[in-house]
This record gives sequence, structure tokens and C-alpha cells, in this order.
Amino acid sequence: MEDILQQIEDYKKEISAAELDNADKLEAFRIRFLGAKGVVKNLMGSMKDIPAENRKSFGLILNGFKQLAEEKYEAVKELSSNGKPSSVPLVDYSLPGDPIGVGSRHPITLMRNRIVSIFQRLGFAVAEGPEIEDDWHNFTALNLDENHPARDMQDTFYLSKNPDWLLRTHTSNVQIREMEKGKLPIRIICPGRVYRNETVSARSHCFFHQVEGLYIAEEVSFADLKQTLYFFVKEMFGEDIRIRFRPSYFPFTEPSAEMDISCLLCGGEGCAVCKRTGWLEILGCGMVHPKVLENCNIDPEKYSGFAFGMGIERPALLKYGITDIRLFSENDVRFLRQFTAAN
Ligand code: PHE
Repeated sequence: MEDILQQIEDYKKEISAAELDNADKLEAFRIRFLGAKGVVKNLMGSMKDIPAENRKSFGLILNGFKQLAEEKYEAVKELSSNGKPSSVPLVDYSLPGDPIGVGSRHPITLMRNRIVSIFQRLGFAVAEGPEIEDDWHNFTALNLDENHPARDMQDTFYLSKNPDWLLRTHTSNVQIREMEKGKLPIRIICPGRVYRNETVSARSHCFFHQVEGLYIAEEVSFADLKQTLYFFVKEMFGEDIRIRFRPSYFPFTEPSAEMDISCLLCGGEGCAVCKRTGWLEILGCGMVHPKVLENCNIDPEKYSGFAFGMGIERPALLKYGITDIRLFSENDVRFLRQFTAAN
């Protein structure tokens, strides 16, 4: 049987290589393979010598082979009757296919999707904007004028081609772009990649991801901000997580705060991850500064709003117990394969 299988393999190669570029060659091919005393008939005849238990699988192989020969013949015949060139690439249907690996989503994407879907349930729409931004949308409109010390907080990559262009340091640029459109109220969430000139280490990187949110309408208050974020934390991290707000400073919000959640690992008792404080800092927020509204032609007497911004890497590190932020961008499939939407 092995001899016969080897023969079949050899015939297959012969068939694939056969150049049937004129009618004589085509006819010779037909006689050799498909004729009354041809290869196919001959092999069919050897069926009786095959042990009964192998007959079925041999029959399948033989059938595949017969089809191959017939298809080559038919395809060339059809083409030559159209007067077209006749070398036809043939597919060997009996070859086993190459398995296609199933991919998985990147942990940052999984975390981003979770965050976004929680805010979507509250009616926030996703808005996106450019990663290469001008000074106005990344800084000036956000109340950081040229010599503002806060620009140092966000060491920036400028484009050498045009120093007015930079890689955005936060996704707040999308908020400005959205406000400039002049359609109110606004309730958006802005996920995206941001860049800062920081030394790459296990804990920080020169690019990372953020989700920022913006809500502008009449009579929006700090209480709305708190309640929105409280809902988010419960949905994201669980019912028994506590939150606290600490006064802070951002040029684009007034008042400003940073929000902490009780430590996911020790539950607030103090451990190495929360540096013994029991709290983890997860986002910055505040009421949109009236000057920012004015910069976007929104009347601060009539409208108010809140904004918040959080990194995606930090909660992903915590959730998955990852200790080195660089793993997220090294594209090592052994790392990436471990994450599924369910975990
Ligand atoms: N843009 C801030 C940052 O990148 C985050 C933030 C957004 C803070 C909105 C307050 C309000 O750090």
C-alpha cells in the first residue's frame, strides 16, 4: 500500500507540473491518466489488493487523485477552447490545510473596552481625535499658556518639521475639538494613545493610553461628577470598593481633584502595591475651567461641565497582576496569548 501511495504522490507532482500547452499534449495527458488503460483505472484495479480495513481511506485518497487529474484536464480544455493560454495552477484538495491560529485581544484593548462600555451605559458617546496635535488643542485652549509651569508636568515630543505640532500628551485635545463644534450638551468619552517624554522603565513609558470624559450641559455640578465616577468604580472594580477625592490642581479644571479607590489587593489595610496607604490613585478630574469654555465659545454663565481622565495601563497592571509596563508593547505572543475578554 505504501508503494501505491508513493506512486500517487509522484503522479500528483507530475500532474501539477504538466504543461499542456497544445492539443496533442492535452490528449496525451488524457490517455495517460484518464484513458481506459490509464493510471487512474490502473490504480482502481489495485483496490482489491488493499487490506479491507484500509480500503475506505485508500478509496478516499484515490478519489481525490482522480478528481485532480480530471480537473486539470477539464480546466485546460476549457481554457484552450477559449483560445487562452493553458497553464493552469491547480489546487490539490487532498492536501491537509494549515491551521489558522485564533488571536486574542490585547489586554489594553480589553481594559479600554470595559471602561468605555460602562460609560456608554450612562449615555457617553465615544469621540476620537488626532495623535499629532497642534499647540492650541493640546495646551493653549486648555488654559496652559506658553509659560505655564504645568507644561513641564507633561514633557512633550515636538515635531522637528513644525514646532507647533506635537504628539498629544493627553486625550483632552479631543474634548477641545468636540467643544469647538458648538453642539451642546456634550457627553463624550475619549479613549486613545498619548505620549510623554519619560524614561522607559518597568513603571512608566514614553507612550500610554488614557480614557478621558467630558460632560457639558446646563447646571452640571460636582455632585454629578462624583456620582458618575462612583458608578464607574462600582461597575469596574466591584461593590465594596470605596473612593475618596483629594484636592488637586489642573489648569483646565477648577476645582480639581484626584480620585483614589481603596486598594484592590489589600482592601485598604496597606500593602506593597498601595505603598501602605490603603489607597490607589486612579484618575484626575474637576469642573471645566470657565476660561476653557470661553476658549471654545461656550458661555460659562449658561453652561458648566465636568471632566476626568485616567490611564488604562495602571488598572490593567493591577487587574492582571503584571509588574512591568513594557510587556504591553513588546508584542511577545506568549504574553499576549494569556488574555481573554472573560478574565
Ligand atoms: N488631562 C489630565 C492628564 O492627562 C487628566 C485630567 C482630565 C484631569 C480631565 C482632570 C480633568 O493628566
